[in-house]
Formats: sequence, C-alpha cells, structure tokens
Amino acid sequence: MSYPYVLLSAAVSLDGYLDDTGPERLLLSSPADFDRVDAVRAESDAILVGAGTIRADNPRLLVNSAERRAARVGQGMPEYPLKVTVTASGDLDPAAKFWHTGGDKLVYTTDRGAERAARLLGDSADVVPLGPALDWRVLLEHLRVVRGVRRLMVEGGGTVHTQLLQQGLADELQLVLAPLLVGDTDAPRLFGPGTYQAGRLCLVETRRIEDVVLMRYEPTAPGTGPAPVAADRHWLGAACALAALCPPSGTAFSVGAVVVAADGTELARGHSREGGDPVVHAEEAALAKVDPADPRLAGATVYSSLEPCARRASRPAPCSELILRAGVRRVVTAWREPDTFVDAADGSGVLVKGGAEVVVLPEYESQAKAPNSHLVR
Ligand SMILES: NC(=O)c1ccc[n+]([C@@H]2O[C@H](COP(=O)([O-])OP(=O)(O)OC[C@H]3O[C@@H](n4cnc5c(N)ncnc54)[C@H](OP(=O)(O)O)[C@@H]3O)[C@@H](O)[C@H]2O)c1
Repeated sequence: MSYPYVLLSAAVSLDGYLDDTGPERLLLSSPADFDRVDAVRAESDAILVGAGTIRADNPRLLVNSAERRAARVGQGMPEYPLKVTVTASGDLDPAAKFWHTGGDKLVYTTDRGAERAARLLGDSADVVPLGPALDWRVLLEHLRVVRGVRRLMVEGGGTVHTQLLQQGLADELQLVLAPLLVGDTDAPRLFGPGTYQAGRLCLVETRRIEDVVLMRYEPTAPGTGPAPVAADRHWLGAACALAALCPPSGTAFSVGAVVVAADGTELARGHSREGGDPVVHAEEAALAKVDPADPRLAGATVYSSLEPCARRASRPAPCSELILRAGVRRVVTAWREPDTFVDAADGSGVLVKGGAEVVVLPEYESQAKAPNSHLVR
C-alpha cells in the first residue's frame, strides 16, 4: 500500500471551534498565517476538503501567490494543486467556486453518490466511485498510484479531519490557535468524538505568527494489526536513521531499532555495535534497556530497519527470539534479511510462528540498505 504524505491543516478558536454558526466564514488566521497556508498549498500535489466545507465556506482553495505558482511550474508541477473533495450524497453545488477556479478537480464518492455528482458537475470534475462506502485507505492509494499525489494537504472540515486522525492516516497536524472565542456549542469542532490514539502526540514545532500560534504535531501510536498507520512510518524512519549511526563493519549489518509502547511512548532505541560492543544487534541493544517486567512490552511494537535475525553465532539467542521472549507481538521492518551472512534467514517466519505480527514497509528498504551498500550484492 502506497499513500501520500497526509497533512491535516486547520485553525481553531481558543475554545476549539473551527467556525461559528453565522452565515459568513469565521476568519481565524491572521494575514501572515494565510500566506503561510498559501506556501503549504504550493508545496502540495493536492488539497482535499469535505463536501461540507464547500457548502459552508464556498472556498476557492488556490495558490494565490503568482511567484509560488511560477515556482511550481518551474519544477514541472501543475500551476495549481489538484482539488479533491469527498461526498456520500453527491450533493454538490455546480456553481461553487471550487469548480470554477484553479486546476483539476476530483470527487471521491460512493456508488450511490456518483450518479448525482456526475449529473450535477458534468465535465467540471472527475468523479470516482469507491463502492458502497468510502474507504479512506482506498482513496489514498488511488490518489498516490493513479493521480501521482505524494503530498496531500487536508483543509477540513472537522468530519474529514476526525476520520483521518482516528484511522491513523494523518502524518502531520498543523494547527493554528487563534485568540478569539466562539462560545456556541452548535458551532463545528475540529475533532469529534470517537477513538483516538491513547497517548500524547509528538509536538514537533511551535511558531508565533502575528497573533496566532502554529503548532505542528505528529501522531505517535503504532498500528495494531497488519495495516500500517502513519506513526509506523515515522518510527521506522527513525530506526533507519539510527542504522546510519552504526560503527561501520565489513562482517555485520548496520541496523537501527526502536521499541514503542501502544500509546506512542518510546521505550528504548538501539543500533548495531553500540556502546563499543562489536557484536550487539540493534533490537538486542534496545530491548536490554527495557525492564523485562515492563507491562507495556506486551502491547509494544519493535521497529527494525532490517528484519530481526533468525540465527546467529555471536550470541545464544537471535533477535527474533529475544523479541518473542520480551512479550512483544508486533514488528515493523523495512527490509527482509538477504543471504549475505546467513542462508535463508527468516526472522519474520520465527516471529510469526511465535505469534507475532510482522509488517514490512518496502518504501523504507533503500534507506535501510544505505549504510549497508558495501555488504549487499
Ligand atoms: N477553521 C478551519 O481551519 C476550517 C477549515 C475547513 C472547514 N472549516 C469549517 O468546518 C465546517 C465544515 O465541517 P464539516 O465537518 O461540517 O464538513 P466537512 O468535513 O468539510 O465535510 C463533511 C462531508 O464530507 C463528506 N464526507 C466526509 N466523510 C465522508 C466519508 N467517509 N464518506 C463519504 N463522504 C464523506 C460528506 O458529504 P455529503 O454530506 O455530501 O455526503 C460529509 O457531510 C464549516 O463550518 C467550515 O467553515 C473550518
């Protein structure tokens, strides 16, 4: 499965509302922040809003700066990002500005909504039915594979943001806090009720922009099954970055590993040959830093740039065995072990046999291989 990078963007009042209930759109951002949003749009291949936002705000969703549009064209991108909306009803106003400004438009809908949307919109947009219900994973894969979208900016509203965050499909949240209060419980909120990751998101940046504050967050909680979530990709990326820190070796791989609890708390990290130990493996080094009685291990995920080893001569137990003994039952890795040192190594097989889930994310394989290029044929 290949998805775009999904960035959720929103501005909220101090009491957490996206808008008020008046007929006009409530302006929450400051002029300089609108310009920042314009820059983020310019870096995106596509911008998505729900049909509710088109109905409520009648937005154009353009890159307003001529310089930014020229820069896009200079880089071989279309002048404007693709504009995307989602609707189940297909009830879209053909006179809305969304359809008459900017570049290409795309509507994802249900089989039921498709007929209505196509009838209302004519050739103003491509209408793509995704079956009886809209599955966000199918939508994101279609955007990436069929439309070539690598970076998707989602500009609301709350119904759409809520689903993407709850389903673990948001890579980043860019939230602007505006210094005003709405105070009307009928106004739309950014996130609705439901199940979110249990722990804290990772705050990666704060920035004052005139009188508003931009906060950037990344979700941290690992997935719970075979389908990867955005946080799985972040943690595996961190493991791959650790692999690059290993002292070089001509006789062993350079590998990084991170152990993460179900609520997104990092329990430990390690890399090959760390601390002057010439034979220690990354997963072994990381697990050695966690109290074996830590109850969080049972729900934890181990991220390893290379599949945990199945057999080894340097220590009594291979890493796949150490992971199972620690009680961990989910492993995410970038790269299956090649035959360089061990024939038919199958750490994943050992893990699966022991009751663990193994998720391979091949999009990280080249990053995992980079510090090992001298070892791989
Ligand atoms: N402050 C900000 O940054 C910001 C940004 C954007 C919007 N807003 C505000 O947010 C409000 C609108 O938010 P909202 O939550 O009402 O609307 P929304 O999220 O923009 O759109 C919801 C609509 O999208 C479609 N949709 C969503 N999920 C779907 C799914 N899984 N399958 C099929 N269709 C799906 C449905 O359309 P159908 O009803 O057609 O089936 C649904 O009614 C407005 O007041 C707007 O001003 C604020």
